[in-house]
Amino acid sequence: MSENGVPPLDPLRTPPDVRETVSHLFAEVHQNIEPAALDRILLNPTPVELSQALLSAVHEPVLTEEVVSRFLRESFGRSSSGGFEKVADGFVPHTRKVTPEQGFLELFSDRYLRLSRLLRGRPALKNLVPLKDLRRHAGEEFSVIGMVREVKVTEKHHHIMLTLDDLTGEGSFLISHDSPQSKGAFIHDEVLGLRSWMPKDGQLPYVKEVLRPGVPVPREPRKTAHASRVLFLSDLHVGSKMFMYNEWQELTAFLNGRTDQAALAEDIRHVVIAGDLVDGIGIYPGQEKDLAIQDILEQYRELGKLLKEFPRHMNVVVIPGNHDAVCPAEPQPPLPEVFSRVLPSNVRVAGNPSLFSLDGILIQAYHGRGFDNIVPNIPGARYEAPTEVMKHMLSMRHLSPTFGQKIPLAPLPRDGLVIDPLPDIFVTGHTHTAGIERHKGVMLINASAWISETEYQRMRNVKPEPAKAFLVDLAKSSAAKLDFSAG
Ligand SMILES: [Fe+2]
Ligand SMILES: [Fe+2]
Repeated sequence: MSENGVPPLDPLRTPPDVRETVSHLFAEVHQNIEPAALDRILLNPTPVELSQALLSAVHEPVLTEEVVSRFLRESFGRSSSGGFEKVADGFVPHTRKVTPEQGFLELFSDRYLRLSRLLRGRPALKNLVPLKDLRRHAGEEFSVIGMVREVKVTEKHHHIMLTLDDLTGEGSFLISHDSPQSKGAFIHDEVLGLRSWMPKDGQLPYVKEVLRPGVPVPREPRKTAHASRVLFLSDLHVGSKMFMYNEWQELTAFLNGRTDQAALAEDIRHVVIAGDLVDGIGIYPGQEKDLAIQDILEQYRELGKLLKEFPRHMNVVVIPGNHDAVCPAEPQPPLPEVFSRVLPSNVRVAGNPSLFSLDGILIQAYHGRGFDNIVPNIPGARYEAPTEVMKHMLSMRHLSPTFGQKIPLAPLPRDGLVIDPLPDIFVTGHTHTAGIERHKGVMLINASAWISETEYQRMRNVKPEPAKAFLVDLAKSSAAKLDFSAG
């Protein structure tokens, strides 16, 4: 098979061709491959090579996602990378010159295509029609998949009027004010499926059911075969006067087995830090007076010193946040070399968001500016209940859909904020609160902060819950919330 001259392609840039190429490779030798296993292969930087390696090494009648993960773990996992495998950074730059308009057009078509793929084939979405053809379906029930462009309330009857776009056109739909669907919140630029009915031509179609990509089948929590634990942290804000140094010392003592919790610290192989590693410079008005370290490189040097005190055998994975020294538009690239080189060698830099596996368990890490996008738009959503907002992200299968409001989006060829595939663990920070919950088999963690309250946060009226950490036992798929603020 390797003689067919197929070059190793990057699935992140050219998904349709690679998907076909890889499917073809397996079809040729009559090996069945589960869709989830195919997705897993396509996320690898060299899917064709990986498929060829799988075909020569694995001879099971059906290739499952589990088999692919095990293969990756055994071939590349423990030996070379200590169990860490980068699957995909959200940030994938254009390889050619494009205008921002072209960039956003590609970004939104990528989002639409990937999320609509998750909705297609749902039994509830019968008679799926493109938005340009709505008029032809008067008097019948039909379904559409579209991206929310506008949400209005009609003056007379207070119905919700949703205007959606797809790749063919646009269409408006009414959600009756007394229907259960009208209680839901709609976020601009999220992708929805609607089951609708149009009484007759010239009238707006009514929505009978709203479907989000979500988690259609709850997942069975996956576990590692050997002992392995991960500690989740976030929002260190090193360089701020409010950095909680004493509490951090407690954490360091714990990781080094110097506390009465030593048994818990055993088998910690990984630490994940979900962004806002340093406090940064010029992030909000008047920040200078909150800073203990005024120079950005010095802030990262100090971070390096703190991380050096962690046991050297631990993998430390860090992603940037809005306070870090990378472009603030999301997805954000990993920390550049000028800063990462002052961190210890066991620290791995990844983008925000990014998807990686730790001993074969898939982690979606995202700093969390999407909270600022979603919280104000969902009735009842609060920073203090972060996992509720994370559930909404999972339901949209998107971390921060809205274009052109508070959060800048980067015009990239691939929408790195789409949540696909579903992770085993989804971790965020940014809110400075803390939460953990298992939702449809996905473990949701919002990983606290190491900074006491700032003026800035008081302004936003968020009560922080700092100096907490979440310890996840990957072999048991269980978790504990650790509190370092008491001592
Ligand atoms: Fe933060
Ligand atoms: Fe943040």
